[in-house]
Amino acid sequence: MHISLQNVTFRYDRDPVLKEIRVDVDRGDMVALVGPNGSGKSTLIKCINGILPVREGDVLIDGTSVRSIPAVERARRMAYVPQSEHRNVPVQVFDAVLLGRKPYIQWRPSHSDLERTAEILRRLDLEDVSMREVHRLSGGQQQRVYIARALNQQPDILLLDEPTANLDLKYQMETLELLRELAGDGITVIIAMHDINMASLFASRVVMLKDGTVFASGGPDIVTAEHVEQLFGVKVRVVHENGARYIVPERF
Ligand SMILES: Nc1ncnc2c1ncn2[C@@H]1O[C@H](COP(=O)(O)OP(=O)(O)OP(=O)(O)O)[C@@H](O)[C@H]1O
Ligand SMILES: [Mg+2]
Repeated sequence: MHISLQNVTFRYDRDPVLKEIRVDVDRGDMVALVGPNGSGKSTLIKCINGILPVREGDVLIDGTSVRSIPAVERARRMAYVPQSEHRNVPVQVFDAVLLGRKPYIQWRPSHSDLERTAEILRRLDLEDVSMREVHRLSGGQQQRVYIARALNQQPDILLLDEPTANLDLKYQMETLELLRELAGDGITVIIAMHDINMASLFASRVVMLKDGTVFASGGPDIVTAEHVEQLFGVKVRVVHENGARYIVPERF
């Protein structure tokens, strides 16, 4: 699905934390949102899925304002993996992932809901822990549970807020590969992330946010030494190897 952010301004209080954001994201794009702490990445993601109500400007999903899409319909189209989830409710992994089917379930899960859930658990390497309680898993395992739950929603749009922050290197690579595959299948993927190397390796587009505005936006090659320096105030070198670009920070 196509997402169009049209001059989105958002304020929690008086001062705007997002200022006239204009971005268009195509079906099948994998967009990395990068920027310093507090630049507005999480807020932007919450505005796209309607958790935060956009009153200035608009978010259009295939031309329809997100405001006018009913909640159940929104949950069928968009899945969201939050930056962190602190819950100590004892829920088993299988049940947590099954919850992703909620927008489709009438009064009890069907055979295919259960099958699909088992398949997603396999795909995310969570079979071995499927009967454990989520809050007793490691941070990285919990993160994979939330990604699994989002995938179980069969969304057209997948919004993820730092989904790889707690993952070890192997699972970071696997998760980003998986998200890329999903984008290849036509899902629109938007990920807030801090690792600019991973962003430029995996994303089809990069949107750089600075103080609530779009600082730069385009293909992965916009992650230049100049941009990174201006955005984060850190000196970096861009190294080219085997056709890929790597951003190497220099010590102060
Ligand atoms: N619930 C809230 N109430 C008031 N202000 C908020 C709230 N959530 C975030 N903010 C403010 O909005 C701005 C953007 O925050 P946001 O969480 O979107 O940044 P971010 O880019 O996701 O940062 P990080 O990299 O640390 O996750 C910050 O100045 C933050 O203090
Ligand atoms: Mg954030």
